Amino acid sequence: MTHPRFPLGEYIRRNAGLPHDLAQSGMRGEIRSVRAPLRRPPLPDPEELARRIARRHGVVPERVFLTHGATEANTLVLLHLARRHAGRAGGRPRVRVRLPEYPPLLDTARFAGFRTISEVGEVELTLLSNPSNPEGMLLPSESVRALAERSRELLVDETFREFTSAPPLHDGGSAELWLTGTFTKAFGADDLRVGYAIAPEGQVESFRSVSWLLDGIPPPSISGALALDRHRPRILREVRERFVRNRRALVEVEPSAATIAAPVWFDRNVGTLGGDRLARAALRRGVLVCPGRFFGDPNGVRVCLTRSTFPADFAAYREVKAKLGLLR
Ligand SMILES: Cc1ncc(COP(=O)(O)O)c(C=O)c1O
Repeated sequence: MTHPRFPLGEYIRRNAGLPHDLAQSGMRGEIRSVRAPLRRPPLPDPEELARRIARRHGVVPERVFLTHGATEANTLVLLHLARRHAGRAGGRPRVRVRLPEYPPLLDTARFAGFRTISEVGEVELTLLSNPSNPEGMLLPSESVRALAERSRELLVDETFREFTSAPPLHDGGSAELWLTGTFTKAFGADDLRVGYAIAPEGQVESFRSVSWLLDGIPPPSISGALALDRHRPRILREVRERFVRNRRALVEVEPSAATIAAPVWFDRNVGTLGGDRLARAALRRGVLVCPGRFFGDPNGVRVCLTRSTFPADFAAYREVKAKLGLLR
């Protein structure tokens, strides 16, 4: 059987050292303190990287699977779990997701074979991002575990956790806990493409049978992620200070946003206009917000707080809303 190849990984492998533009998250180019470490990265050592991630999560390194970002980590976990639970409930395995939620989580779960359940009851999987995209809310561990009380497995995408000082989730209560994370967001490393999945102890071996889909992370990506990880305290200090500054600008006019823990906010004050039309009107004036429909809730838009230009960008967004009569 031909081994699948990951085209971005291939590109990075062949063009080591080139600055490239393979990804465009709101964090790209925003963090000053990543520049020096990336100029002189250490030798690529995937075992060291896995060991460092494992130590932070309080798990053995064998439970850490390095991936080309959180997207791939989520996909592999979902494919594995769909196979593991196929036919268990006399049909397709069931997943519970609360909306709004980051759309690829739900789309990939469906693609893998899950059917979504919104009512209470038993499910094979509970799935969420925490802090959540698009709401920026960080659920405490007890609430996450409560969500998964009648679930066999729990997958928590912690892509945004490092914008906060919250520790990683340690156990899923009665559910088997899967965690995913990435260097592409809080470290602004879109173009390195390094993420990871952490498998529960009892499923490490069976998960390996899905992780053959991994084609190996390019050595320049491993070196870069190691460089960032070694300078983690300084980088995260800069990133968190930026986020807090931007949140302050938001909270001045939207006090309810004080509780967001990650640099995204879901604006529900869209009147009868709806999220789609507000997002389109904003775009016409050069302001980019994301229609809530993408996240399963058409009655809002997602606003991103990652860039240093956020206070001015947000003022421009408020002007659009004022012109549309959406400000009281
Ligand atoms: C919750 C969540 N998970 C995963 C991703 C994608 O992460 P990556 O670029 O590491 O694949 C994003 C990107 O915004 C996200 O918001």
